[in-house]
Amino acid sequence: ETAAGHQVKHDRPVVWSHRGASKNAPEETTAAYRRALADGADVLEGDLAQTKDGVLVVIHDNTLARTTNVEEVFPDRAPWNVIDFTLAEIKQLDAGSWWDPAFAGQRILTLREWFRLTGGRAGLAPELKSPTLYPGMVENLVKELRAWGYTHDLKAGNGAPQIWVQSFDEAALRQFHALLPKVPTLLLRSGYPFMTATDEVLTELATWTTAIAGNPVLTTASQVARVQSFGLKVVSEVEDGPSILSMIELQGYDYVFTNVPDVAKAVLNGK
Ligand code: G3P
Ligand code: CA
Repeated sequence: ETAAGHQVKHDRPVVWSHRGASKNAPEETTAAYRRALADGADVLEGDLAQTKDGVLVVIHDNTLARTTNVEEVFPDRAPWNVIDFTLAEIKQLDAGSWWDPAFAGQRILTLREWFRLTGGRAGLAPELKSPTLYPGMVENLVKELRAWGYTHDLKAGNGAPQIWVQSFDEAALRQFHALLPKVPTLLLRSGYPFMTATDEVLTELATWTTAIAGNPVLTTASQVARVQSFGLKVVSEVEDGPSILSMIELQGYDYVFTNVPDVAKAVLNGK
């Protein structure tokens, strides 16, 4: 039994909380991740960027403009790219007020702070969002994972995979896999072509990646089962509606991304 109050079983999709509980709190902040843990999320999802001084931080966009007050604090630094700011500068920014004044004072988290916040209670799924923008980002992530002992297919306190690295950038994900082959990976691709890929493509993918993503509106249960028969896990794209979450379960998906882990857990019967 964990702080999240449950253990992951494999008879329902594992719930990945997309950017934390991001319908109820400012995305990728302590508030969003604490809410996701309280709501029973199995895995917390977050995106990585890298500061000017080479620190990995958890933020979806490559700029600070949408989710912080950077334009007020540093008015002359447009276009406010993360890579142009030091960690000390980024830590001056408010990452909560844009969402709601009640969340004033939330800060952008470093990767290490994210690890510490979760404390092994739930899984973590960091995304290498734009690795080509950030020199040495893959090696930097590998270094951090080694320092934290997240170097193999560990289980978190709630039974979910402790660490799972995802990316739309296939070259970066292959590079990551070559460096830490025991850590599971999710290869993302717009349009979800892998759900109907040839046997040859799926066979090759299964030699190095753990999972691919699908869209439940476009897939059938037999397509999901076919992909799984190659040894790949299948993750649903982000979905929040109860009926589509049920459909994801019926189609046999292994994992689901959602902004509302409380809704997902209720739909999936708290299993
Ligand atoms: O599909 C999962 C997610 O990690 C990719 O979407 O929110 O990073 O743009 P996003
Ligand atoms: Ca993401």
